[in-house]
Amino acid sequence: MSSSLQPDEFALLVDRTGRHFLTKIRPTGQFQCHHGVLQYTDMVGKQEGARLETSLGKPLWIFRPRLQDYLMKMPRSSTIIYPKDIGVLLIWADIFPGARVLEAGAGSGALSLALLRAVGPDGDLVTCDIREDMMQRARRNVTNLMGPMPNWSLCLCDVYHGLPDGPFDRIVLDLPEPGLVARHAAQALVPGGILCSFVPNVPQVQQTVDAYRETQAFVEIETYEAQVRPWIFRGPSARPTHSSVGHTGFLTFARRGEA
Ligand SMILES: C[S@@+](CC[C@H](N)C(=O)[O-])C[C@H]1O[C@@H](n2cnc3c(N)ncnc32)[C@H](O)[C@@H]1O
Repeated sequence: MSSSLQPDEFALLVDRTGRHFLTKIRPTGQFQCHHGVLQYTDMVGKQEGARLETSLGKPLWIFRPRLQDYLMKMPRSSTIIYPKDIGVLLIWADIFPGARVLEAGAGSGALSLALLRAVGPDGDLVTCDIREDMMQRARRNVTNLMGPMPNWSLCLCDVYHGLPDGPFDRIVLDLPEPGLVARHAAQALVPGGILCSFVPNVPQVQQTVDAYRETQAFVEIETYEAQVRPWIFRGPSARPTHSSVGHTGFLTFARRGEA
């Protein structure tokens, strides 16, 4: 997308040190941070990468936020799946344009956003949650960035007791006991379909793998932990950063195959 920035779009402002500020461009009014003030009218019509100057003479570069910029700054009602894990999930679970995907739970909608982008307008996403307030939070975060999504449905249900009508090409679970969904998932997945789950703790991942095996409906059951280590290059210093995202969780993938 090479069009200029417009009112009601999100803008990411980046300072000299790489610090990020996320704001929605309003038709009027101003954005304020410790670098000073910027008028929203001065953002409208700018190309991404333009250099703006605050009221205090400080430079801020303006961009459209990447999905990960938005995910890390949007309001949360739950732990989200971090971009480093989403990246692995999308490739290992092979979420493709046009796929029909079932997701549980909705949480804050971070994974829903990534899945919707990956399946594209020809795909479908059904997102389940046991809590209405979580679905509302997810809906707000998704529509705030992407607008109304006709190919996304939210379903209030307990997936431990059953899934919405399939079949699905992919099922993605981010809830405490994915093993309790294994049998339902085996029924709802197309042959060769992929089940993926995310859990933070070792006992949870062990129970998940055991439950997947017990169904005898899955092959290629594999678990991964994704680690991303940012490095700093500043003057003579070239080293990993002192702080980065540590442990988040384990991703387990399984493929629907004949018993
Ligand atoms: C960690 S959050 C999901 C975060 C989400 N993936 C994200 O990236 O924003 C877990 C969600 O699972 C939901 N949940 C827990 N048990 C459930 C169940 N049995 N059926 C459906 N949803 C469930 C919770 O209400 C919560 O919203």
